[in-house]
Amino acid sequence: MTADTQFAQHLSTQRASAEEREAVLANPGFGNFFTDHTAIVDFSVDPSGVGGWHDARVEPYGPIALDPAAGVLHYGQEIFEGMKAYRHADGSVWTFRADANAARLNRSAIRLALPQLPEELFLESLRQLVAADQEWIPSGDGESLYLRPFMIATEAFLGVRPAREVSYRVIASPAGNYFGGEVKPVDIWVSRNYARAGRGGTGAAKAGGNYASSLAAQLEAEAHGCKQVLFLDQFNDNAVEELGGMNVFFVFRDGSIVTPALSGTILEGITRSSIIQLGRDRGLEVTERKITLDEWRDGVASGEITEVFACGTAAVITPIGRLRDGDEFIGAEGAAPGELTMSIRSELLGIQTGVVEDTHGWLTRLV
Ligand SMILES: Cc1ncc(COP(=O)(O)O)c(C=O)c1O
Repeated sequence: MTADTQFAQHLSTQRASAEEREAVLANPGFGNFFTDHTAIVDFSVDPSGVGGWHDARVEPYGPIALDPAAGVLHYGQEIFEGMKAYRHADGSVWTFRADANAARLNRSAIRLALPQLPEELFLESLRQLVAADQEWIPSGDGESLYLRPFMIATEAFLGVRPAREVSYRVIASPAGNYFGGEVKPVDIWVSRNYARAGRGGTGAAKAGGNYASSLAAQLEAEAHGCKQVLFLDQFNDNAVEELGGMNVFFVFRDGSIVTPALSGTILEGITRSSIIQLGRDRGLEVTERKITLDEWRDGVASGEITEVFACGTAAVITPIGRLRDGDEFIGAEGAAPGELTMSIRSELLGIQTGVVEDTHGWLTRLV
């Protein structure tokens, strides 16, 4: 598919001052602050039934005027992506595996009956926004500019059918370390009361509704002193699926690595795919297969499983400390981050930030 990738520039006359920006960049946290602009492309279906993307533009960041009957507000027709822009030592700005994000956005679009966005329009929207707001990219260790492309049904219509008017947008948020501070193992709560996804559902799509339905489980996790929640497939021997916002990996005593196979209910993480590749590059055996909660418990108890970690764009790679299943704990309190976990983490971060060679051509220059 080809597309007109010309973006009109309606730049802000009320940008944050250098002092305001510096105050934010001194301690950005995650998802708290937003840059001066947003990139937008609209979609509509004309009376003859032909749909198309139009009015690509960069605008000042600000509230969206939506008709109260807009589809997204009633039926949740919404999808999104999450990725980062990294400033390299020479000042250039790069993003990681943007083609994979573009492809996943389109897989999500198909599942949520939203229009697909041509990859070149997706890439150009990132370039345009990052070019306008590049002063917002923090350059400290582990810091980046988080990019949030999303697509919403804007048509004012209360019948249940795919919207004929849709808006695609990108916003950006300076990002520090997701869990704050140094890399420390996090405790995880096993959700027994809630599922995140089911067969034929939307688990493999990055759709807002999946996250809405994970929040009650997340609250339960926090009430039990855990940072994140683990979802199981309770109809399939309690097979491990993923966390609320991250995929999971297991390192075995012989150095082999296992991650749950994609089953249609798990999000295909781009960090996950990259770790599989980096593991294989090291000559390690990396397997995507079913792994159950029993295997996790027994493997940790016997010493067969030596490291468990979670991964995703926001938190990169985070060691999992203890898994809490009701009153039972799997794993030891205060365990140090695993050696392979930290080594793959630093290789991946090194590629993203330009200090380790990008042998797979995963980086795309934005500015
Ligand atoms: C449910 C879920 N699983 C896994 C991931 C990891 O995906 P990625 O590595 O592409 O960020 C995410 C997003 O970060 C997610 O929301």
